[in-house]
Amino acid sequence: MAAPATTVSTAVLKSVPLFAGFPDEQLRALATLVTRRSAPRSSLIMAAGDATESLYVVISGRLKVMMGDAEGKEVILSLIGPGEFFGEMGLIDDSPRSASVIAIEPCELLSLSRRDFKKCMAENFDMTMAVMKGLVRRLREADRKIGSLALLDVYGRVARLLIDMSEDVNGQKIVTKRLPKQDIAKMIGASREMVSRVMKDLQMGGYIEMRGSTIVVRDTIMLPD
Ligand code: CMP
Repeated sequence: MAAPATTVSTAVLKSVPLFAGFPDEQLRALATLVTRRSAPRSSLIMAAGDATESLYVVISGRLKVMMGDAEGKEVILSLIGPGEFFGEMGLIDDSPRSASVIAIEPCELLSLSRRDFKKCMAENFDMTMAVMKGLVRRLREADRKIGSLALLDVYGRVARLLIDMSEDVNGQKIVTKRLPKQDIAKMIGASREMVSRVMKDLQMGGYIEMRGSTIVVRDTIMLPD
């Protein structure tokens, strides 16, 4: 992240769910502790195994949380967007980074040092609860992913991912964010070719419809509970 740090307004901090419960006075104090940075697309924010220094909060843009091996094979654990945070795990258990985080769009990020993160947690129960809720949500998503890998075939895994990533737009389930087939493959543990074949079959069967880069997910897609 090469861009210079800039200051942060309390209005920006208030818009972040993690800090939403802070009284105005604490927000003003927090504004002096956080650092705002721009990260260009494709920049590596942290690498798995790095020493842990800070918590990050996303103001704008999207990032991927991933793990890779020496041969360049990757698995995408999660996509993170505005309002979400990352880098809390290493701060909580004093361990190196568990995964790598890379900007997939130009991002605006806030960072908070280990010492200030712990101080804020100690002084603000709402923030502690927000961090715990974030961890529980990730555990639920990880459980769901393990269930999908063990119990669903690639059709089911693609269908579940599309359903999970879709938003309700005027009563229709639509994946509005760009979701390349390569990334779908890395998220569900399948090859890109297999994902292409499955998406084509789902399209031919009328289960999904491609509209430019958005995907409409039809209600005819059924998954086991
Ligand atoms: P940390 O281990 O400090 O650094 C990598 C960060 O990636 C980690 O904290 C979490 O914030 C985030 N992370 C790790 N695994 C997942 C996951 N399965 N889903 C979402 N975020 C994750």
